[in-house]
Amino acid sequence: MNKESSYKKRSDGREFNEIRPIKAKVGIVPSADGSALFETGKTRAIAVVRGPRTLHPQHMQDPLKGILRVNYQMMAFSVWDRIKPGISRRSLEINKVIEWALSEIVDLTEFPGSVVDVLIQIPQADAGTRVAGLNAAVMALAQAGVPMKEMLSAVAAGKIDKTLVIDVNKEEEDYEEGEGSTDIPLCFGSFSKKIYLLQLDGKISIENFKEILKMGQKASEKIYKIQVEALKNPGKEVRG
Ligand code: CDP
Repeated sequence: MNKESSYKKRSDGREFNEIRPIKAKVGIVPSADGSALFETGKTRAIAVVRGPRTLHPQHMQDPLKGILRVNYQMMAFSVWDRIKPGISRRSLEINKVIEWALSEIVDLTEFPGSVVDVLIQIPQADAGTRVAGLNAAVMALAQAGVPMKEMLSAVAAGKIDKTLVIDVNKEEEDYEEGEGSTDIPLCFGSFSKKIYLLQLDGKISIENFKEILKMGQKASEKIYKIQVEALKNPGKEVRG
């Protein structure tokens, strides 16, 4: 830890590289083709997958492959202020970045003219909802049997003043002393270790950036193990 940083101890007592307690479960919506819950601390994400099924209207179909649609939403009372239902600039951005990450691994060449819908709901939010949503979505897609090149595991890294941390909570995200808070959502491929999502709002040095990528990758490997354990045991809540 940087000695000059004003953020010397985490607000919830965690180590700087420690993820919040995780819960993961697959098969939470029996009527769906795939479904999963992914929870880190007080952030909870639910993903439901429908498809592949024929896409209507027909003019939207791709004759060469199936298409993937992502819809991310925070529930009205997921945070202290009520969230206005419907589309916002933020939800559009999150849909896009999740869709971009998933499109890289999902292979729908066998399903021309079809669609796979991924619905992500956030019943409770305490920062890191896009990465929790992505983790749940990948598990739901795997349960639905959608062909994928590899799994994805995502985590929100951050720099709180001069301190690098993993799995940022809302209190940390709102930190204003010194250099304030820089949120860095990251997503890694389970085999390739490729980065499928990286967003960075704020400033960070190259050394810190390299370090945070290493910390993020280690954390993603822990998350991957929990996702796999949940996939092997549908209906069972796996904790980590
Ligand atoms: O959730 P994530 O970190 O991926 O995205 P964000 O846009 O950086 O939002 C961070 C957190 O702010 C969310 O997880 C919520 O806890 C909170 N938030 C909120 O309280 N009200 C909103 N309208 C949007 C986000």
